Formats: sequence, C-alpha cells, structure tokens
Amino acid sequence: DANELVTGPANSAETNTNKRTGDGSSDSSVRPVLNVESNAAIVIEGGTVAAIDSSDKLTREYPTENATTAIDASGQCVLPGFVDPHTHAVFAGDRSDEFEAKLRGKSYQEILAEGGGILRTVQAVREASVDELTDRLLERLNLMLAAGTTTAEIKSGYGLDTETELKLLSAINRADERHPIDIVATFMGAHAIPEGVNANEYTTSVVEEQLPAVEKQGIAEFCDVFCEAGVFSVEQSRKILEAGTKRGLTPKLHIDEFENLGGSQLAASLSAASADHLLQSTPEDIETLLEADVTPVLLPGTAFGLGGEYPSLEPYRKRNIIPAIGSDFNPNCYAKRMGFAATLACVGIGMTPGEAIRGITDRSAAAINRSDSVGTLEIGDPADLAVLEIPSYRHLPYRYDENVVGSVLKHGDVVVE
Ligand code: NIG
Ligand code: FE
Repeated sequence: DANELVTGPANSAETNTNKRTGDGSSDSSVRPVLNVESNAAIVIEGGTVAAIDSSDKLTREYPTENATTAIDASGQCVLPGFVDPHTHAVFAGDRSDEFEAKLRGKSYQEILAEGGGILRTVQAVREASVDELTDRLLERLNLMLAAGTTTAEIKSGYGLDTETELKLLSAINRADERHPIDIVATFMGAHAIPEGVNANEYTTSVVEEQLPAVEKQGIAEFCDVFCEAGVFSVEQSRKILEAGTKRGLTPKLHIDEFENLGGSQLAASLSAASADHLLQSTPEDIETLLEADVTPVLLPGTAFGLGGEYPSLEPYRKRNIIPAIGSDFNPNCYAKRMGFAATLACVGIGMTPGEAIRGITDRSAAAINRSDSVGTLEIGDPADLAVLEIPSYRHLPYRYDENVVGSVLKHGDVVVE
C-alpha cells in the first residue's frame, strides 16, 4: 500500500498503461521517464513480484489478513531497491589525510605518483587478513543496505598481486554469502601499477598470472582496467581486457577521468558492459559508446570530491539515453548512499529527479548486465524494494542530507525495518 509506486521506465510497453502517470506530467517540456502509480499496492509471493495494481483492487483480491506480512506504506514511496554499479568497497587503512592534502591543493594524480592513493590502500590490504577485509566490508554493506542498495558491484584492485587480488575476491564472496545485498564481483588487478614495477611487465603479469588464477577461483564476473595517463594505456588496457574475455570475464573500463586517452573507442571495440567516469569525454566519445551499446556510468560523488567538475548531459539527451549513476564508493570518495549520488546527479549534472532515479535503478542494472532481474518492478522480478518515508520520489534527491529509506526488502524478506 503506497502513496507512490515507482516501477521503472515510462516507455516500457507492458507497464505504460493509462492508469499511470509519467514523471513531469505536469510539465510538457520534460519527457516522462518513470512509471509512477499512485495509491498502489504490490503483492509478493515466493520472494518475487506477483501483482502490482491499485491498492483498492489488490486489497480486495488479496485480503491482508491472509498475508504472512503486510507493510503499510501509505503516504510513502516505494522504489525498486537501488543498484550500485561501481564500488571499490573492499579496502583497509585510512586515507583521510589525503582528503586534507587535496584541500591544500595536491592533485589525485600527484598523490598516486608519490606512492599514496591506491598504492597506500594496497599496503594496508596486503597486511589485512581475509576475515578483517570481510568484516569491514560487511559493516559498509550494512550502511549501503540501510540506504536502499540491494545490489552492488564491488571491484578488487587493492592487491596488485595474485595472492592479494584473490584475497579481495574471497572477501567479496564471503560477504556475498553472508549479506542480503547481492554482490557482483569485478576483478581489477589493473587498478594501478605497483611501485618499482614497469607498466608493461605488470600488464604481462596481470595477463599471465593474475587472470588465470582469477578464472580458476571463479568468483569474478567482470574485468575492469583504470585506463588513464600514468596508469594503463589504451594498448595495455586492451591486452588485459581481451585476455579477461578469453577467461570468461566481461570487460568494463574506467576512462576519461583525468585525461582523454581515447578509451571510448576501446570500450566500443570490446563491447564493454560499461565505461565509467567519462569526465573528459567528448560528445563524439559518448556517441561512440552509445552506438556500441556500452552503458555509460557517471560517478558524481567522485566529481564532487575532486572539485565539482561535472560532465555535460547534452550528448545523452541528444540520444534520449539516461546514463547510469554509481557511488564509486572508495577511500577517495567516501560516499555510498545512492540517494546522495542521485542528488549530485541532479544538482551537479543537471538530471531531473526521475532521470536520477532511473540512473540508480534500471540504468545501473544495465551497467552490470542485470537488466533482466533488478532495477525495475515487474511481475516476476525479485521483490527487492526500498520503502521511502517520503510522499513522492522527488524527495529522494531533494532531501540531500537525509537517509529517507524506511524499510528494505530483498527477495521479499524485510531486511531493514
Ligand atoms: O574509480 N579512479 C580509479 N579508481 C577509483 C579510485 C580508487 C582510489 O583512489 O582508491 C575511482 O575513482
Ligand atoms: Fe572506480
């Protein structure tokens, strides 16, 4: 029973009935992007969505006294559980001093070149046990779940050697087994170049040592590379991702965060699932990605922390495509609440609240190849729901210092109340 039930894209033929109103229906200059049903209810059976309709109709057909659990969401807003398509949530150590160093004028790349940044987290992770890494990750996942995230991608990449990369992936796997959030694991041995190692030699070791071990361990689904000046070149990135593909890992890329090396052409030629950051991408680069059906992922939390230079929406609007939005939660971007990412998508990038919600639900599901199962609410979908204590979905990005999430359901189970 909800004041507003947001089920997903407005252009989905199956759900775009006249009972529903689109986002921005009061303003004809804004394209409808969401299905919003007022005074609606949802019936869950066996952990999946069995029916969605008006509250009146469903409470007649499924009397609440027959239900195992009945949740009264009147006056509230129910959304699909949020899908975070890009995190580096498994890490150890503390880099809060780098937050201060950046405020004093040091750049992210300078810190990394001096052996700080990712390389510092690598040191801390090498010293941590798999149990410690798992425990820290579980604490962070609890906070993410309480803020409405029900599916999250997590990357390794703070090991930079075979043993530690496998340790990170094991921690991800253990957390996945113990925690309600569904985790999608990405191997990112090519996250930085370890100190004192030559970039080409390290690339070879990722291809010849790390990838075979990661394939054997069998936890990772994606392979990601930080394709950036001073990190991995386009050619090195290609070698790693092609080798990953041969080992069953789907390519993803960090591109154009600081410098544009031409990573969008690489992402397109590899049919990567996503290309992420895109701060320095040209409109033509975005066109190349969209043409090749690579899901663009924008990470406004990182842009916010790096000084507030946000990407333009124009190339996306031109093609009528909404980019996915991720948190990029990592020691350089200590922000994991998807409601906050949605606020930054609105205020920083200029997305409408409806677009931002699509960015953190069905669009982000596309970035991790989960469009079939999560990010929308359709009959047969797993009942992953965020029940928000707000009268309308617009209040999610609008109330930017609140966690408006009241309860959370995962596969129909109430996991946050
Ligand atoms: O996506 N840019 C590369 N990787 C992360 C940052 C990781 C870190 O600084 O620890 C990112 O922003
Ligand atoms: Fe990242």
